[in-house]
Amino acid sequence: MNIRLFKPSLGKEELENIKESFDRSWIGLGPNVNKFEEEWAKFVGAATATGLNSATAALHLALKVFNFPKGKKVLVPSLTFSSTASAILYNDLIPVFVDSNPETLGMDLDDMKQKYDKDVVAVIPVHYAGHPVPMDELMPWAREKGLKVIEDCAHTSGSKYKGTPLGLWGDIGCYSFEEKKLMTTGDGGMMVTNQPELFKDVKAMRWVGIDKDNWKTAQSYTDVNKDAMHWFYELNVLGYKYNMNDLSAAIGLAQLKKLPEFNRRRGEIIQRYMDGLKGLDGIKPLLPYEPEKYVYQMFGIRAENRDDLMIYLKSKGVATGCHYTPLHMQPLFKSFNGSCSFIEKEADKFITLPLHADLTNEEVEYVIDKITDYKN
Ligand SMILES: Cc1ncc(COP(=O)(O)O)c(C=O)c1O
Repeated sequence: MNIRLFKPSLGKEELENIKESFDRSWIGLGPNVNKFEEEWAKFVGAATATGLNSATAALHLALKVFNFPKGKKVLVPSLTFSSTASAILYNDLIPVFVDSNPETLGMDLDDMKQKYDKDVVAVIPVHYAGHPVPMDELMPWAREKGLKVIEDCAHTSGSKYKGTPLGLWGDIGCYSFEEKKLMTTGDGGMMVTNQPELFKDVKAMRWVGIDKDNWKTAQSYTDVNKDAMHWFYELNVLGYKYNMNDLSAAIGLAQLKKLPEFNRRRGEIIQRYMDGLKGLDGIKPLLPYEPEKYVYQMFGIRAENRDDLMIYLKSKGVATGCHYTPLHMQPLFKSFNGSCSFIEKEADKFITLPLHADLTNEEVEYVIDKITDYKN
C-alpha cells in the first residue's frame, strides 16, 4: 500500500482543454482566464472574480486594495498556512495572532475581540479544513469596528454558511487551486467580491500594472481597429506578475465542472472515516465535521501519541500530515508576541489523514484498520 495524503484528480477533459490552448497557440493570460473568471464568479455567486497564480497572491492583493497605512494591525488565526500571515507582512502590516476555537479550530471569536485594539484595520478569518467560521457573529462585530474582512477560502470551494456562500460574507474572498486543494489548476487562485469598485485596479495589480486584454488586442489587430494605437498602455498602479495563465485556466475550467462530484465524494469519505473511527479510545475527529452541509479539504484526527501513530502509519504505507504548526510559534512570526494558549498545546495532537476524490473505499478501510490495529 502507498496511500497519498492528497492527490489531484485529473482526466482527459483537462487534457482536451489544454489541447485547445495549444491549438490556439495562446498559453499566457488570455481567453481561458477570462472564461474561468466568469464561471467562477457564477459558481460562487459573486459580482466579479479575478484569476491569479495563487491564493497567496490573492491574499496579498486583497489587503493591498485597501491601502492601509503602514504599521496597522490585522487579526489572523495562528492555525493557518504561512501565506495568510505572510500577506500581512507583504503589505507592511502587523499580524495579531488569534487562538482557535477548541471545537472547530477556526478563529476563536472571543480571543479575536480581546486582541482588538484601535490600530486593527482588518481581519482574515480562515475556514480551516473547510469548516466555516461563524461569519454571522464575526461580520456585525467587524462592521461595528469599521474593519475590512478578507476570507481565506483556500480550504473551501462551494460551501454556503447560513445561506451565504463562504467568500462572500466579507469584503473579499480568496480561493486556492494549488494541487492539494478541492480542485486544482496546478497552482492558481481566485479573488471574488460583491463590491466591484474594490477591484477597479486589481486586473492591473495582477499583471505588472497593465490593465489591458492582450488577447482582444491580438484578435482585432489587423482588421477591426486599423487605426487604433494597439501599443498604448498606461501604468497607474504598482503591479505584480501574479496573473493566472491560460494553461492553468484550461485545467480549472475542466476541474470546475467536476468540483460538485469531487466534493460529494469527499463528504462520503469523511463519513466513512467518522463511522470507522468512532469509539476508538484516544482518537477524536479533528473538528465537528458536517459533510452533508460543508465541503472539507482536510480530514484529520486528534490523537494523544501523535508522533508515534504517524510513524506507525508511515510504516504501513499511509501518508499523514500536520496542519499546522501554529504560526505564532514559527521563528518568522515569533517577534509578534502572540499568545494563543489553547492551540499551543493542542496542535501537537493533530494528524491529517488521506483525503482526495480518487481515494477508494478499500483505501479508506485500510487506513481505519491500521489506526484500529495500532490502538489494540
Ligand atoms: C489556509 C491557506 N491559505 C492560503 C494558502 C495559499 O494558497 P496557494 O498555495 O494557492 O498560494 C493555503 C495553501 O495551502 C492555505 O492552506
